[in-house]
Formats: sequence, structure tokens, C-alpha cells
Amino acid sequence: MEKNAKIYVAGHRGLAGSALCRALRGAGHENILTKNSVELDLRDGTATAAFFDRERPEYVFLAAAKVGGIHANNTYPATFIHDNLAIELNVVHQAWTHGVKRLVFLGSSCVYPRDCRQPIKEEYLLSGPLEKTNDAYAIAKIAGIKLCEAYHRQHGAKFFSVMPTNLYGPGDNYDLENSHVLPALIRKFHEGKRERKTAVEVWGSGSPRRDFLFSDDMAAACVFLMNMSDAMIFEQGNTLVNIGSGADHTIRELAELTARVIGYTGDLAWNSSKPDGTPKKCLDVTRLSALGWAPRVALEDGIRIAYDDFLKRYENYVKMN
Ligand SMILES: NC(=O)c1ccc[n+]([C@@H]2O[C@H](COP(=O)([O-])OP(=O)(O)OC[C@H]3O[C@@H](n4cnc5c(N)ncnc54)[C@H](OP(=O)(O)O)[C@@H]3O)[C@@H](O)[C@H]2O)c1
Repeated sequence: MEKNAKIYVAGHRGLAGSALCRALRGAGHENILTKNSVELDLRDGTATAAFFDRERPEYVFLAAAKVGGIHANNTYPATFIHDNLAIELNVVHQAWTHGVKRLVFLGSSCVYPRDCRQPIKEEYLLSGPLEKTNDAYAIAKIAGIKLCEAYHRQHGAKFFSVMPTNLYGPGDNYDLENSHVLPALIRKFHEGKRERKTAVEVWGSGSPRRDFLFSDDMAAACVFLMNMSDAMIFEQGNTLVNIGSGADHTIRELAELTARVIGYTGDLAWNSSKPDGTPKKCLDVTRLSALGWAPRVALEDGIRIAYDDFLKRYENYVKMN
């Protein structure tokens, strides 16, 4: 990407999108185009077409999506499949129609089968049944990957997909019903510490294994891939690239580490009536490593940075929710 190129980050207020904006600015890009979902609802095909007509971005990072944790995915599957299909269809089609030079679509590791071989290689996509609690979301994300592949195959569009693992970092969602595991733990342990609780409830059994990546590391990987040559991405078949830390942890280990970083010293009360989701999910990052990228932020350091950000925003956050 040329330094003055017009770059559209769809979903710039989100965890992934805000990290992408920081990474782009950090790399000297100032011509970054953003719209929030009130200014531009990407489910609206006519509005999305008018936006591309008017703005003509050269590069697109598609990080806008209807996102949520197990509870939200399990409760609102129609919303998750509808909104995500609509956003992907509108943005990918308009990007092609308007000659966008490159588009990176952000998928999610939940696209891989529930009982997938570990660590998960990109080629395991569509090799088995999905996890039931978020299958509607996963199907929409798989459709996004296939959209990019199809527009590349039929039209030669330089569109490709990345599959980030579980992300955390500045600007995360700390809603106790709809958040992912790590931000939920940060909030619960913070409140447990502040209220001097003797125990804090943690969802599930603690046994599932996951890998966690700091959002700024994920963004750096996306920018790195966006700048790769056609030969490295398209000619070598790297149109789907996992982005992960390469290491996994049990939720119990994660909870204990988070409690320690925050300084919560009470008990952890595991509520195993809440769903665990996929038993183990760790992405194989051989493809990304071979392209020359590695993460920089260790889990403990990343949790500390995320907690600092949470503290800055916490009072406002609680008032708004
Ligand atoms: N968080 C993770 O752990 C994780 C892991 C792997 C992959 N990902 C992927 O990364 C992408 C973004 O996730 P995230 O965690 O950053 O989500 P997020 O924090 O919930 O942010 C989602 C963003 O999408 C925008 N958006 C939602 N609906 C929209 C609509 N109808 N029109 C326009 N914009 C809309 C939101 O805009 P407003 O703020 O303006 O409403 C927001 O900026 C997703 O594709 C997700 O699958 C995330």
C-alpha cells in the first residue's frame, strides 16, 4: 500500500478495526476512511454502493461484523447469519465493482469444524460439522471466505481472508452477557477485587483450550499480509491465512493469569452448567510464520495493557450499560 493510498477500514470502532487503524497510522498511512454503523449501515446495499461510488477506496479491510460470545451467538442465530451475510455481500461486491486493489476479509477461527484436528491448518476448512452454539455465525463467515475466493477466481479480484484466533486488547467489549471470555474475566475480577468478593463465578468447566492474540498483533499481521506481493499471496495459494499466537492455554490457566494480573485474590467458582463450546481450538500458524510474521506481545503483557485500557474506560462503560 502506498503511504497516501485511500484505505477503508470497515468496523473501525471495533476491537479489530480500531487496532487496524492504529497499525495503519503507525505505518505512516493517514488517508484512512472510516464510517460508523449509524453513518453507513453495511447491511444496506444501496447505501454501501453509494459510499463506494463517492469515496472510491483503493484498499479495504473488512472488519465490520455482527460479533458476540457464546451466549449471544446461541440466542440470536438469525441476526448473526443475516447481518454478516449482508455486510460481506455488499462490501465484497462493491469493492469489486469499484476496482478496489486489495481486500482483506476478517473471518474467525470458529469457521473450522468443532472436532477439528489440532493444531488447525487452513486446509481443514469444511472438513467436518461445526460447533452448534455458533454455527450460524460460522456459516456466514465461511460464505465470506468463499465470496473472496469466488471473486478472485472469476474476476481476478485481489481479495483474500485471514482467520484470527480469539482477540483481546484496547477497546474490547466488557458486557457480561455478550463479551468474549477474556474481557469478561477482566471485568469480573476487577469487580471482585473492588468489592472484596470471596469468590467470582466463571463460566464453563475451565478445561477448553484456546489461543489468544493481542489485537494490535493481529492488525500488524493483516497490514503485513496486505503488503505482500501477489506471488506470495495468490500464486502460492495463501488466500486463507490463520493468525494466532501459536500457543494455547486452558480457560482455567487464562483465568488464573488474569486474576493475578488484576490482583484479585478470591476463589474462582466454576459454573459448569454454562456451555464450554469447542473443547480445543488452536490455530496452526505455519503458513503465516513461513511468510515471515511472528507476534510480539506476550499474553501476560497483553492482559496488562488491556486491563489498563479497561480501567480508563470502566466508569463510563458501566454507566452506559
Ligand atoms: N474479537 C475477536 O476475538 C475476534 C476473533 C477472530 C476474528 N474476529 C473478527 O474480527 C471482525 C471484527 O470483530 P471485532 O471483535 O472487532 O468486533 P466488534 O468489536 O464487535 O466490532 C464490530 C464492528 O463492526 C461494525 N458493524 C457491525 N455491524 C455493522 C453494520 N451493519 N454496518 C456497519 N458496521 C457494522 C461495528 O460498527 P459500530 O461500532 O459503528 O457500530 C464495529 O465497529 C469480525 O469479522 C470477527 O469475526 C474477531
